[in-house]
Amino acid sequence: MTKHIPVLLDSVMSALGDVRNRTIIDCTFGAGGYSRAFLEAGAKVIAFDRDTNVVVDAEKLKSEYRDKFCFINSAFSEISKLDKNDFDDVVFDLGISSMQIDNGERGFSFRFDAPLDMRMDTRLKTTAADLIRNLSEAELADILYEYGDIKKSRLLARLLKENSPASTFQLRDLIKNPNDVAPVFQALRIAVNDEMGQIKSALEDVHNMLRSGGKCICVTFHSLEDRIVKNTFRKWSEPLGDPRIPSVSVPEYKMLRPAVPTPKELNNNPRARSAHMRAVQKV
Ligand SMILES: C[S@@+](CC[C@H](N)C(=O)[O-])C[C@H]1O[C@@H](n2cnc3c(N)ncnc32)[C@H](O)[C@@H]1O
Repeated sequence: MTKHIPVLLDSVMSALGDVRNRTIIDCTFGAGGYSRAFLEAGAKVIAFDRDTNVVVDAEKLKSEYRDKFCFINSAFSEISKLDKNDFDDVVFDLGISSMQIDNGERGFSFRFDAPLDMRMDTRLKTTAADLIRNLSEAELADILYEYGDIKKSRLLARLLKENSPASTFQLRDLIKNPNDVAPVFQALRIAVNDEMGQIKSALEDVHNMLRSGGKCICVTFHSLEDRIVKNTFRKWSEPLGDPRIPSVSVPEYKMLRPAVPTPKELNNNPRARSAHMRAVQKV
């Protein structure tokens, strides 16, 4: 199986700056590429991932770095259970990993025939097939439209409800327009894993918990995610207080320079193509 190549890692490292003796929360452990780089640079790391398949890699890192590394096999929306004094910076590398997409059995990809699953956390109950079965036609159409930008979402929702696809290939074959296949798979994946809800709730917690000087860095892979992060960071960076009195109108956060992959990175790793990094620092 393809090993996940960390995306925009150099940009993330340079946004973080000197991480020696800092504690970073890696919200999306994946193959541990970010966590390892933070540890090698002298940080302590608390890592989250909701996928049980990454536990083996996390245990390897734990045996190397012992009390400098801690892994929590849960969704990052659990971040509020930590103490704000436990960490300095928070990093999200959103979306799915190469291991998830390339493991045909997980049902994320239309390249492999498998049960229509798409759960990042297989301890959760609802698969993509369940979602199609349980939602109303209108709810399904909204998901296809909102998360996949599918123009004929009502028509497709009706077709899915009538046929209840149970496998990736059954779903793929119901989609008439080949350009819609990837967006439909993406829309269902976002819904199954409540990806938008997860990031919104975690960012709100980070806002309440981040210490002064702490940074929050997000790498996103599609425009919906990027819009949430961009708007949230903008709001955080607006001046507080009365704008008519500049001396008391100070922003709580400073925007750091955003980044996209260089042509060289894209050449080495085409999966980085839609990545955007955004970062803020609490002042
Ligand atoms: C793009 S990969 C991260 C790759 C990692 N930065 C690396 O260098 O190996 C995204 C990972 O985040 C996890 N993930 C996505 N949403 C999550 C959530 N809400 N809570 C916890 N983990 C999540 C996925 O299971 C996946 O393993």
